[in-house]
Amino acid sequence: MPDVEAMLHPQGVTNGVMKADPDKCTSCGLCIQNCPYRCWEMGPDDVPVMREGRTCFSCFNCLAACQDGAISIVQAYEVHGGGYFDTEYPPVRWPLEPLDAAGNPDQWTETERLIIERRSVRNFNGKPVPDTLIRRVLEAGRFAPSGGNNQPWKFAVVTDPGLIAELEEKVHAVWAGDDYALSDENIAPNLVGVMPNEVFDPRVRQGLHCTALKELPVFLGSPCIIFVAGNEKMALPVLQAGICGQNMNLAAMSLGLGFVWTNFGAVGVERVPELKAKLGFEDPWVMRAAVCIGYPRFKQRGAVPRHYRPVTWFRPGSVGVETGE
Ligand SMILES: Cc1cc2nc3c(=O)[nH]c(=O)nc-3n(C[C@H](O)[C@H](O)[C@H](O)COP(=O)(O)O)c2cc1C
Ligand code: SF4
Ligand code: SF4
Repeated sequence: MPDVEAMLHPQGVTNGVMKADPDKCTSCGLCIQNCPYRCWEMGPDDVPVMREGRTCFSCFNCLAACQDGAISIVQAYEVHGGGYFDTEYPPVRWPLEPLDAAGNPDQWTETERLIIERRSVRNFNGKPVPDTLIRRVLEAGRFAPSGGNNQPWKFAVVTDPGLIAELEEKVHAVWAGDDYALSDENIAPNLVGVMPNEVFDPRVRQGLHCTALKELPVFLGSPCIIFVAGNEKMALPVLQAGICGQNMNLAAMSLGLGFVWTNFGAVGVERVPELKAKLGFEDPWVMRAAVCIGYPRFKQRGAVPRHYRPVTWFRPGSVGVETGE
């Protein structure tokens, strides 16, 4: 049984802190719109400032959206000691400079650039995605690798605005209920050990809260949702749904489409049996992923820094050297 106090009030968590430079900021507001957790608000001088009481989890999507280079990182989200989520956090680093096989400076390939500049897109312009392009995204999923070539996935595509609205409403209700229970200090202790541990992680908790407040729509206002179910009678359905989904992510980007995963969407539908049935899934199919695609409303693509954990290399003649390079 996990430590209730440590789960409900994790210690040693340092939220991310970002800053907008008044000399560079043009007050476009894109950073505010692109923060999934609504950590920014417009300050008195029309320069965004960070809101009190929000968990900035250092996704750096505000930084990717800023066209004017006005945003900088003051402090990345870290967890050091204390509570249940006690993890040593390595510093964040920008992508390394690419080198060629001989060790000379090189350029990223198109595929590498796609991977590095991929960002979750949560702001869509409302334009429908043509079925022809959705088909290509699905094909990228269908041709993913799988253990024993078992291909344990099955897709459903929703572009009907009426059904998207119904999914949003009914799945939102699931998370609003969870948020209510978790916010009640009499109920919440009883949920430790009952709800999945990750719900108590401050980053997930903030996402859940923003979802309940409708600040972070479950399906992000996208015109197309693809559900990926995993066949639980086959090996590794969760892992393989993920591989399948990531293939679709890169294919969507290469077609000029924005893409974001929605675990709140996938798990939420799984928790509402009538919705799952309506989407055509029944045992042994379990909803393992949901992704939203659409045309980005503004540029949301760009490199960001990420944790840089030392790598243990076993090179010829050296045994397990931990190295930063
Ligand atoms: C399995 C999975 C589930 C996710 N679920 C959600 C979600 O429910 N809502 C959301 O806004 N973003 C979701 N995301 C997006 C993550 O928040 C995002 O990938 C992360 O913050 C890193 O940002 P980036 O994708 O821009 O690099 C999910 C990502 C993954 C891989
Ligand atoms: S880093 Fe991410 S969570 Fe933090 S303010 Fe920027 S967009 Fe929001
Ligand atoms: S995106 Fe950049 S320029 Fe626009 S409001 Fe934010 S900091 Fe200012």
